[in-house]
Amino acid sequence: MGNAFYIKTFGCQMNIRDSEIIAQSLYEHGYIESDRSDNADLIIINTCSIREKAEQKFFSLLGSLKKQKERNPQLLICVAGCVAQQLGPRVIERMGHVDLVIGTQYIYDLPQLIKQCKSENSLTELRDDYQIPRYIPSSSLPKKAAEPSSISESSRFSRFVTIMQGCNNFCSYCVVPYTRGREVSRNIKDIIDEVKVVVDSGVKEIVLLGQNVNSYGMTNRVSDEIENYRFSDLLKEVSSIPGIERLRFTTSNPKDLSDDLIHCFGKLDNLCAHFHLPVQSGSDKILRAMNRKYTIADYLARVEKLREVSPNIAISTDIIVGFPGESDADFVQTMQLLETVRFNSSFSFKYSDRPGTVAHDIGSKVSESLKTDRLQQFQKRQDEITLEENQKLVGITLPVMVEAVAGNDISGRTEMNHIVHCGAGSDLDQLIPGEVIDVRITYAGPHSLKGETY
Ligand code: SAH
Ligand code: SF4
Ligand code: F3S
Repeated sequence: MGNAFYIKTFGCQMNIRDSEIIAQSLYEHGYIESDRSDNADLIIINTCSIREKAEQKFFSLLGSLKKQKERNPQLLICVAGCVAQQLGPRVIERMGHVDLVIGTQYIYDLPQLIKQCKSENSLTELRDDYQIPRYIPSSSLPKKAAEPSSISESSRFSRFVTIMQGCNNFCSYCVVPYTRGREVSRNIKDIIDEVKVVVDSGVKEIVLLGQNVNSYGMTNRVSDEIENYRFSDLLKEVSSIPGIERLRFTTSNPKDLSDDLIHCFGKLDNLCAHFHLPVQSGSDKILRAMNRKYTIADYLARVEKLREVSPNIAISTDIIVGFPGESDADFVQTMQLLETVRFNSSFSFKYSDRPGTVAHDIGSKVSESLKTDRLQQFQKRQDEITLEENQKLVGITLPVMVEAVAGNDISGRTEMNHIVHCGAGSDLDQLIPGEVIDVRITYAGPHSLKGETY
């Protein structure tokens, strides 16, 4: 058998980071990455089950690999990630051409499981006891930063660093607590060491990752050293590591957002003025049914404080429309919240019924057509607000981190997370991704900005 692997990643940043870890352990075992599935000897699909659509996309990709497996019985197909954790052996029952199913906490063992699988025909490796936290083994830390790979195109200048795994919040619509298990905070030293390794390799931007970074250190801890240590402390410590041009983090549940974290925005120079703070709904009744544990008044107070500390901060959010029991009046409150906060941008979704969650058993489901109407209405108004907010930047000069240079065109990102396109002047053709340049904004669209350099 050859040693080319192909990896396809669905889902969130957590999965992207997991795929990088999988790729790195495969490189260390002599595999090489292929950017095509049709000439690979090993195909890994890292799956997402957050909404039904994500799961369907995975099954359709898997179905399309059946022929390749028939042509080449030596091909190994491995399913990892959240669908693997949820369905376990049912993946192989449904799709007989799958060889290996691994749960979310098994990514570190993949090379060894592949060997085992080759001698056992097919294998499912899951932790049914996902209630028990499993710590990220220190030995999994990169000894040197992995080569940038196709998994994350930005990995040359920007890297994710996982600070915690799992989620304890059990929002009533969400599969993550079941697919990722209980919350575990990594050791401070392991995180700092990992950040230093990647920064030493030339990376300019660090994104700290967790399902709810605000509860770092508050629940299961690898060791007692983090007993009185909070996310804001970690952020300060990471921020002071030399060489980090930009620092970001995601995601935050508003219920654990501390004053101390808010004040970091006024204090830490390299912390980007962008906060992704998912609200989900503008109705207190729906927030209660979602088990979010905050009210709209709490949320607005947090937003106000953030803007006091950092007046230009961009705030983005996640919204679910059509949660079971969402009335017209509840939805109007979501639309009103949009007017009150004027989010710079948002990700909005139709509620998707997920097996095993509490919301799955709530009656009074909202019809598909009503969900579609509400989503369109929300997105239309959000696009207008995004455009209006973007237009306020025209004429202003902003620092932009270069992400790609193609011929004479540069694209990059502002601190507030806008995508910016501009032409490269003659002295700028030596630019490399990760450099920060001043760009004067000349045009604002709903999804990106245009500008010029001097
Ligand atoms: N931990 C993050 C969310 C991760 S999931 C947080 O709490 O903020 C990303 C987003 O997917 C959620 O914010 C939510 O808006 C959406 N989502 C999760 N489950 C969903 C479901 N069953 N149907 C529709 N959207 C869902
Ligand atoms: Fe899901 Fe809620 Fe946890 Fe976010 S905080 S991952 S929405 S359960
Ligand atoms: Fe999807 Fe799992 Fe992330 S369900 S959104 S890949 S945690």
